[in-house]
Amino acid sequence: MVEPAGAHLAPTVAETLAPPLEGTPLVALDDIHVTFTTHRGLFRRGQVRALAGVTAAIGRGETLSVVGESGSGKTTLGRVSLRLADPTGGRVTFDGRDITRDPQGSLAWFRQRAQIIFQDPFSSLNPSMRVRDLIEEPLVIDGVSRGGERWDRVRGALEAVDLVPAVRFGARYPGQLSGGQRQRVGIARALVREPDYIVADEPVSMIDASSRIEILQLLRGLQAQRGVAFMSITHDLASARYFSDRIAVLYLGQVMEEGPTGAVIDRPLHPYTRALVAAVPEPDPANRFRRRAVVPAERAGSDPGTGCPFFSRCPERIPGTCDRVRPLLAGQGGGQRVACHLYPGSTPATVDAGADRASH
Ligand SMILES: Nc1ncnc2c1ncn2[C@@H]1O[C@H](COP(=O)(O)OP(=O)(O)OP(=O)(O)O)[C@@H](O)[C@H]1O
Ligand SMILES: [Mg+2]
Repeated sequence: MVEPAGAHLAPTVAETLAPPLEGTPLVALDDIHVTFTTHRGLFRRGQVRALAGVTAAIGRGETLSVVGESGSGKTTLGRVSLRLADPTGGRVTFDGRDITRDPQGSLAWFRQRAQIIFQDPFSSLNPSMRVRDLIEEPLVIDGVSRGGERWDRVRGALEAVDLVPAVRFGARYPGQLSGGQRQRVGIARALVREPDYIVADEPVSMIDASSRIEILQLLRGLQAQRGVAFMSITHDLASARYFSDRIAVLYLGQVMEEGPTGAVIDRPLHPYTRALVAAVPEPDPANRFRRRAVVPAERAGSDPGTGCPFFSRCPERIPGTCDRVRPLLAGQGGGQRVACHLYPGSTPATVDAGADRASH
C-alpha cells in the first residue's frame, strides 16, 4: 500500500465519485485518445500518442484552462472538442449529443455553436480580404441571406471587440492592423456566429505584451456578458489564473490534475503542478505573461509506457509503483482531482489489493 501523502485531504466516497460539474456539461470529453501516424521517409512510419485517455468537461459559461508544456496535447484536445481532429478512441459530447462519429456534413449546427480563436493572428486571416468581409464570411457560409442583417451582426461583433468605429475598421485589410487588433478581428470572427463555446488556443502568446492584458480582459468580459464557455489553452499559469474557473494540467497527453483554479494554484497536489506553480514568474510590469521554461522537457509524444508519464522527472516517485501503474484521476475534496499515487484513490484497487497480499 502506498503511503498517502495527502491523507489529511482524504476524500469522501461521494467526492471521489462525483462528476466535476453539476448537470449535463456543454462539452464532455470522455477518455479521449489520439494517436498520430507520422511518416519519416518513404517506408518508415512512427506513432505519436498525443492524448492517452483524457476526460474533461466544460459547463455552460464556464472557462476551463488547459495548461501544459509544449507537446503535451493541448491543441489536439481543443481540436478534438471541436471535431477538427478525430479521436482514435473515446467520446465527444456537445450539449448532450454524442458527435464523436457524426460526418462533417451533418455538423453545420455544431459549427455555428462552437468556434476557435487561433494563436497566430498573422497567418490566420486572409490578407487579401477586408476586415468586414473576413467577419462576414461565416454568416455567408451559414446562409444568412439579408445583407443588412449580416452587416448589423458584423458591426455588433466589431463593437464587441472594441474595433470602433466599425465602418472604419471594417474597411481595412489585416496588413493595416497591429497584432492586437488582428487578434480582435479573429475574436470578432468567432463571435459573429454567437457561439456557446469557444476554444482559445494561446490567443495572446504571439502579440505584444502591452496588448495581452487587453485581449485577456476582452475575453473575460465576453465570457461574463455572453455566457460563452471557453477552453483556454495556455502554457502559462498566470493567464490561467486570471481567466479560468477550472484548470486541467496536461502532461504527455494525460491529465495530471484538475480542479477549481484557486485550489489548483494555491494548493497544487501533483508534483508536476507544484513544479509549474513554483516556476510562475513574479509579475513583470513590462511583460506580465512572460513565458519561462518550467522543467526540462520530456520528448513530446514519447510513450510513457504503463506507469505515470511524469515518473522519470518526479522527485517523489515511488519505484515499483509509479513506473508500472498508471495512476487514476481521483477526487481529493473541493472538486480537485489528481492522478498521482501519493494520494488516496489514485492507485487502482487491484494494485492495492495485490500489494496488501504481498505484505502479509
Ligand atoms: N497532425 C499531426 N501529426 C503528427 N503528430 C502530431 C500532429 N499534431 C500534433 N502532433 C504531435 O502530438 C503531440 C501533441 O501536440 P499538440 O500540438 O497537441 O501539443 P501542444 O500542447 O498544443 O503543444 P504546443 O504548446 O507546442 O502548441 C506532439 O508530440 C505533436 O508533435
Ligand atoms: Mg498547441
